[in-house]
Order: sequence, then structure tokens, then C-alpha cells
Amino acid sequence: STRQFFVGGNFKMNPGTTQQKAAIIDILNNAKLDPTTEVVIAPPALYLLPLKEKVKNGISLSAQNSYVKSTGAFTGEISPSQLADAGIPWVILGHSERRTLFHESSEFVAEKTRVALDHGLKVILCIGETLDQREAGETAKVCESQLQAVVKVLKEEDWSKIVIAYEPVWAIGTGKVASSAQAQEAHVDTRAVIAKFVSPAVASSVRIIYGGSVTAANCRELATQQDVDGFLVGGASLKPEFVDIINARQ
Ligand code: G3H
Repeated sequence: STRQFFVGGNFKMNPGTTQQKAAIIDILNNAKLDPTTEVVIAPPALYLLPLKEKVKNGISLSAQNSYVKSTGAFTGEISPSQLADAGIPWVILGHSERRTLFHESSEFVAEKTRVALDHGLKVILCIGETLDQREAGETAKVCESQLQAVVKVLKEEDWSKIVIAYEPVWAIGTGKVASSAQAQEAHVDTRAVIAKFVSPAVASSVRIIYGGSVTAANCRELATQQDVDGFLVGGASLKPEFVDIINARQ
């Protein structure tokens, strides 16, 4: 496909120490990364600016969250306009940990997506089903409804600023990676939703990346799937093998 391969590293609330953080960045800066892969790392907000100055190899930075307002009395929140002003181009929205632990609804995620785009950010938009939902045969329905909330608030041209991350909740941090057939099927279904409710052109150009227990050992097979345009990596993004995942298509 003509879609540029995209690999994101979501550090979540890690690493625990500055030393570990420096080690990860040294590995990325000294590695030979596939120049055709777009690489984005999402460290905790506290580290965005120092890492922006430190990273090389064309790596860009992403926040892990942003709020629905740009300024005001919202203690502890991260402002989308301040991120943009600070030169942070990306934000992850709708991660399952935000949806579950912090009770974010699909409508709230959609509103945050709208506001992030309005302030000039690009968005890694996460969707995905739980194990119960998969076992009940509801995977496509769940992903569609999470997407629909966002489709409603975006215009067709907004979709060039979005990367969709399909992350089955049962695969996140569990070591239980989706099979390449499961990932491909969900990505095809997701593309079909975009074709139907946005446009066929957006469906063929939007990148749909897979997340959930991606490792150096399983990334190559997943990357052979036609509709898998990259990865959103949690645990393995903190390890040297993140380089192998970035280079999965080499
Ligand atoms: O955003 C990343 C995902 O939650 C995947 O995390 O690679 O640790 O399973 P994981």
C-alpha cells in the first residue's frame, strides 16, 4: 500500500527512573531505523519537552492524553493548545486504560479528538473490544460504535490527521497478541466503517495500526498483513526490541 508504516511507543506511566529513560533514548538515537517508518514516542507529559530536544532519527513526540479545553481551571489536565504551542505534534486519545480506569466515554473521546485537531494536533485514536465482547461476537460492532462517535464530529479532511490504533483490550499488556488473521480482520472491518461513513478515499489512505503485546518476535508476521499499517507498542517500547519493531518491514 502507499500508506506510510507507523510505529508508536506508548511509555504509559513508565519508566520509573531518569536513568532508564536515558537508556531507551540512547538506544533509539544510536540505532539504524527504517527511514520509511514514521516513529512517534509518547512518554509521560513531564518528559515531552526534554525528549523533544534529545531524540534524533526523525522521531517525533506524542502526549498520552489531552483535555477538551485549551486553558482554565482544570487541575491536572493536559491542554491541547499548550501541547501544540510547545511543538508536540501528536496525542494519543481513547486508549483503553483511559476508557476503563478513567471512565472516558466514546463521546468524550470524540470531543477531545475534535478539540485536539482544532488546536493543530494529530491524533492516535485507539479503539478495541474486551475479551467478553470478542467472545460474544461483538468485536466489529464495538469498534464501529467507538469510531462512529468520532466520525460524527470530524470532517472528511480531518482524517488525514488521524491514525487509528486497533487495540483489543485482552491483548494489552497480557502477552496474548492477536493472531495476524484476527488483526487483519478487525482492520478490514474498521476500514469498511470508514469507507461507509466517511469516504472510500479516506478508508484507503487512513493508517490503521495494531496494538497489544507486540514484540520483536511477533511483529514481522503481523506486518505482512495488508491492512496492518504499523503498531502501537506499550511494554516493548521500553526495551531495545522496539528498534526491531520499527524495522519490522525490513
Ligand atoms: O498503547 C499501547 C498498548 O496499550 C499496548 O501495550 O504493548 O504493553 O501490550 P502492550
